[in-house]
Amino acid sequence: MTTLTVNSKTYHVDADPEMPLLWVLRDIIGLTGTKFGCGVAQCGACTVHLNGEAVRSCVTRLKRAEGQQVVTIEGLSANNDHPLQLAWQANDVPQCGYCQSGQLMSAAVLLRENPNPTDQDIDDAMSGNICRCGTYVRIRKAIHDAAAMQKGVAVNG
Ligand code: FES
Ligand code: FES
Repeated sequence: MTTLTVNSKTYHVDADPEMPLLWVLRDIIGLTGTKFGCGVAQCGACTVHLNGEAVRSCVTRLKRAEGQQVVTIEGLSANNDHPLQLAWQANDVPQCGYCQSGQLMSAAVLLRENPNPTDQDIDDAMSGNICRCGTYVRIRKAIHDAAAMQKGVAVNG
């Protein structure tokens, strides 16, 4: 039995400790906002936070999450009102949407560590998150808008 905390809730999971955290989140706990893309740490669709760090849950074993704090897209904010979520909506960022929870989780770590990122900072931080729909320009704009929101500056769509 493995105990882990996901979005501030404690779970006791009866699964192989080697199981990818992504499978535990989606198939056992039922949090399907985190997506399976490549399965080999190349696309970022499965990004979640482990103790505040962005990790690829497809290659993170359950045993590594034992006793740790996991946050998924469902737990990013209480009311879907994280500045990034608001900026994502205002900028109509998603197309198919498949990559977007991973994009948001990576962007959230970026903004926490660097509240005022440049284009280059954003491109560097987000380079591990692939979007087959090519929403990169809107993602960058939304991250800038969220950064401004965090500082209390009004943002025009
Ligand atoms: S599914 Fe994990 S990085 Fe692609
Ligand atoms: S919005 Fe379709 S893969 Fe990114």
